[in-house]
Amino acid sequence: MKYKIVTYGCQMNVHESEKIAGLLEGMGAAACKEDESADIVVFNTCCIRDNAERRALGNIGVVKGEKKKNPSMVIAVVGCMTQQSGMADTIRSRYPYVDIVLGTRNIFALPEEIKKVLAARAAMKKRSDKRYRAFETDYAEDYLALDEAAPVARTSFPNAWVNIIYGCNNFCTYCIVPYVRGRELSRPMPAVLDEVKRAVDEGYGEITLLGQNVNSYGHDLSGGESFEKLLREISRIEGKFRVRFMTSHPKDLTDGVIAAMAESGCVCNNIHLPVQSGSDKVLRDMNRRYTRDRYFSLIEKLRAAMPDIGITTDVMVGFPTETEQDFKDTTDLVKSVRFSNAFTFIYSPRKGTPAAEMPQIPYAVKRARIGELIKLQNTVTKELSEDYVGGVYEVLTEDVSPKHPGMLCGRTESGRLATFPGTPDKIGRFVNVRITEARSASLFGIAEE
Ligand code: 5AD
Ligand code: SF4
Repeated sequence: MKYKIVTYGCQMNVHESEKIAGLLEGMGAAACKEDESADIVVFNTCCIRDNAERRALGNIGVVKGEKKKNPSMVIAVVGCMTQQSGMADTIRSRYPYVDIVLGTRNIFALPEEIKKVLAARAAMKKRSDKRYRAFETDYAEDYLALDEAAPVARTSFPNAWVNIIYGCNNFCTYCIVPYVRGRELSRPMPAVLDEVKRAVDEGYGEITLLGQNVNSYGHDLSGGESFEKLLREISRIEGKFRVRFMTSHPKDLTDGVIAAMAESGCVCNNIHLPVQSGSDKVLRDMNRRYTRDRYFSLIEKLRAAMPDIGITTDVMVGFPTETEQDFKDTTDLVKSVRFSNAFTFIYSPRKGTPAAEMPQIPYAVKRARIGELIKLQNTVTKELSEDYVGGVYEVLTEDVSPKHPGMLCGRTESGRLATFPGTPDKIGRFVNVRITEARSASLFGIAEE
């Protein structure tokens, strides 16, 4: 059997697809190549914004044609989108060719459900015989134990994703994540440390610790575990490797974590610290539980401890209560912090969240605001890129460049993408790259021997 996994959304989902791959390979299936037709198709979905959801539903619609050509195909829809209230039923009635729907915390049932679908098909005598379909989104009670036992088929060499905490307790008023991923659950620290050690031993040069809010790691464990302690323990692991983590919540980023980052030989001077808005009123309405001043003071502390730190962020425009003045507070913040990059989003109402119930801002206003914000950040990014020209930076080679034949690409410690001539045997190796040119977000250079 050949499988194909279509992944939407964040790194958490990219890694979860690696776990799904592990489960499917465990039942003897193999990843299908670009031009092969799959026997098992899994859509690992996202619902953070309306467009993510629409894209997934659109593509689930498209697979109907493939299923006609290959009726033995098994189609599964999993991940965040399925966990929204009413969604499993919608899929059941509107997409009758979907065989399996599973949620964010019962994915380990996938092999069993596939076997049941296949067994029921084999037993069918007449067309009118009932097929077996599975629609199950209840969280598995022993989720953490099942997760520890599940195999992972990594697909992102030399980057190894490692989960440290699942779920979110924060309930930002715009966000669907706490509803679809449940409450926070930290993995036991020895399990995380073992996984990091194994990945380093296998030659992974970069470990990215994943969680909706990595800074709250450990609060639900009983041995005084914390994110700071985890970073310090990981820093004692031997070998040449880098550590990044995402995502951090400004309200929980402690002085201890900043110190652990600065003191560690392997934790990168790089942080993704979503600010969302520069207006205190909007931050309050979003239930972010920090102020603009608190955010500025974190940036100061980070830069005092690590002068060359690369700081990226998420910014949202068009939150229901955002006025022109609030938006100006955001652009002012973006101008003064000078992020190395910002991921910018138009607020998208999510059913069931408090902000979706508030009076909304016209789309044209949101569009104009995001246009201005993107232009501003592009200018900052380009200016900061120029500072790299002439310097030599250690880059972990990740892949051949998708756009430039004969070139490789990788990231600096600060998280900037660098492209340079080289052969694929360098993938996974650390190289020193002299930067010769900056083009907005990407740097170009030459590897030094
Ligand atoms: N609309 C737009 N953007 C959102 N994000 C989260 N929820 C929404 C929403 N409803 C953004 C936030 C978050 C990032 C992952 O996605 O900026 O940090
Ligand atoms: Fe969503 Fe806020 Fe939790 Fe992040 S911290 S996942 S934005 S609720």
